[in-house]
Amino acid sequence: MITVSEKTERFLISTAHSSYVMGVTKERFLTHLYYGKKIRDVGAEHLFSYVMGRGFAEATYEKHPDQGNYLNTLRQEYPVSGMGDFHETCLELRQNQAKVALDLRYDHYEIRQDKAPLEGMPSAFGDEVETLIITLKDSVVPVTVELYYSVFEDSDVICRHARILNETGKALYLEKALSANLYAEHVDGGYDMISLAGCWGREHIIERRKVGHGNMTTESYRGKSDHDGCPFFALTASGMPRQSGKTYGMQLVYSGDYLGKVERDCGDQIRGSLGIHPQEFTWKLEVGDSFETPEALLVYSEEGLQGMSLSFHDFLRQHIIRSPWQFKERPILINNWEATYFNFNEEKLLDIAKDAKAAGLDMLVCDDGWFGHHRDDPSGSLGDWFVDPKKFPEGFAGYADKVHAMGLKVGLWFEPEMICELSDLYEAHPDWALCWPGREPVRCRNQWILDYSNPEVIENIYQQIATMVKTAKLDYIKWDMNRSIIDGHSAYLPEDRQGEIHHRHVLGVYALQGRLTEEFPDLLIENCSSGGGRFDAGMLYYSPQIWASDNMDPVERAEITAGTTLAFPISTLGAHMCKGVNDTTGRKLDLRSRSNMAMLGTFGVEMDITTLNPEEMEILGEQIKRYRKIQPLIESGEFRTLTRTAENGIYSAFQITNQEKTEGYLIYFIPMTKAATSPARLYLQGLKEEATYQVDKGDETLTLGGDFLMHAGLCLGMPRMDAYSEIWHFQEI
Ligand code: DGJ
Repeated sequence: MITVSEKTERFLISTAHSSYVMGVTKERFLTHLYYGKKIRDVGAEHLFSYVMGRGFAEATYEKHPDQGNYLNTLRQEYPVSGMGDFHETCLELRQNQAKVALDLRYDHYEIRQDKAPLEGMPSAFGDEVETLIITLKDSVVPVTVELYYSVFEDSDVICRHARILNETGKALYLEKALSANLYAEHVDGGYDMISLAGCWGREHIIERRKVGHGNMTTESYRGKSDHDGCPFFALTASGMPRQSGKTYGMQLVYSGDYLGKVERDCGDQIRGSLGIHPQEFTWKLEVGDSFETPEALLVYSEEGLQGMSLSFHDFLRQHIIRSPWQFKERPILINNWEATYFNFNEEKLLDIAKDAKAAGLDMLVCDDGWFGHHRDDPSGSLGDWFVDPKKFPEGFAGYADKVHAMGLKVGLWFEPEMICELSDLYEAHPDWALCWPGREPVRCRNQWILDYSNPEVIENIYQQIATMVKTAKLDYIKWDMNRSIIDGHSAYLPEDRQGEIHHRHVLGVYALQGRLTEEFPDLLIENCSSGGGRFDAGMLYYSPQIWASDNMDPVERAEITAGTTLAFPISTLGAHMCKGVNDTTGRKLDLRSRSNMAMLGTFGVEMDITTLNPEEMEILGEQIKRYRKIQPLIESGEFRTLTRTAENGIYSAFQITNQEKTEGYLIYFIPMTKAATSPARLYLQGLKEEATYQVDKGDETLTLGGDFLMHAGLCLGMPRMDAYSEIWHFQEI
């Protein structure tokens, strides 16, 4: 809900549990007054005294009576650079070679009872949404900035983005255009910044840093959101357990370069900013043109990181993921990548299909290696999306017909943003690869980046993929992206638009995926980027699931799952059961452990199933049946990380509960057995205090109260093996 007090020029945004308050100072600056637990709109003007100048020395703004670094301490809603704010600003402009200083003042506002989609970019949608648009103007440089605040009351989410209009008589260049910032309310003890860090095979590991004076970032300027982070961060009151304490979460609905920055100033104010990373970004804004930033999602929770995650999960499932597959049971798949790598043909895949069907799987995905003339290793053929007749003598459609006839769905791998030197596409269009003038493109896995700023490239790739989808009647595609953008130069764009390549690349990906989802609405897309190298809300707009990591070893997956689900729902994590000896870590792993961990997400199998003995096939069959029971909760239940090995030194535990709180599952995992430790206690969360639950705990069944389970907890035994896991079921009786 949005309330505006015309008299005092105050804006109050309320969600179910939070309030966001802004006001206009007497100099006409739009200032942030409060973001926190829900309050009534009484007396917010009192907060003005907090945002006024303090300290001594540097010039006060205009004829303000107080001494102090005014703009430097004022909590500007959309801080701009050049007039005395020395912290991370949102907007920087240039005209020719000269910096343009901006001085934005409040002009007017408008309220809409809906939310318009962002042009060419993913953005939140929904019926019950109100939007406040506040317009700021500069009286010297004719630039207008519109700030959008869309309020999703039930999910406790506010979506923010900005639109910048050039009303000057000359082209302007945006050097930086962040989406939004927020300010954390004071808590004794301060805040921690929580972000996700890692690398290939260890994506999205939770990192906690104490917010001291100065700044800290999470960022990527590799052209994608990347393995060592994603456009998300949280600020949470230091020293609190994960289910309590003031917590702010911010994430971007965007899949390219991003900058998330947290700063604590000398007055201990904490500003968090998020948007497109300025490092590889310059955007030419012609006279009369406008630029829209991607959308940022803001959450405030009194219930700590847990509350923030639950809001994000719910919001992304209801208002970002568009796929009709979102709330449908996704096919349980088998993927041949780690089973065969490039060494396969139709015969081998049909053998796998036979056993997959017998085990109760739904779909066979043919991964990298099916196309072109040179794809027996990663040296060539990217861009040639036609079948390799050596591997599929009857064409891919002929093979797909056979798999469909066996009662399985058919999936296929693509890497549509790439081109190889050794390909028909490169031979025909050498200028379609991004490359610095006078140099060869930088080689990463022998692949170069296609120039997605060129519409002809997009059209060509679309036609090739669409032909495969139609002729083979594909049910699913895996969209991979295995390198960063390094060569930031396009043969297609003029000189003064070369700074737009990274952003235009992302817009090209969105255009292609958008067109595919419109043309083939039932096609299930799973995004991927060398594992979880592009896991973000932008990609989720087009695909309800993303491959979370090439690392399927449960010892490491437990941490990857805990990190990824801090920001994203469990239903979005591609999770597969690996081989008995894991290809990434070399660890020998029990089949139940491998498959238990793969139930946390969209379950699949990634090994040569034809090598399983009858007993193993039976266990796999049982596990698939078990997942079918858990699956509806994965797709729409409440998911919580209860604890992590990284925090307690012994085990990780996850809980999934249905929305009614009557049924759920607990999955716990002990990476390494330990001698003579006290039994660990597991405290459940979010149950009904008064209810009685039957807990099916391995070989014993317990009857326990909801209050008991949450406050006294369950005791875990210590197994006599490493990489041990169990799944327990609980149900209200
Ligand atoms: C990286 C992905 O993460 C893997 O699952 C697989 O698809 C390979 N690429 C294929 O090249």
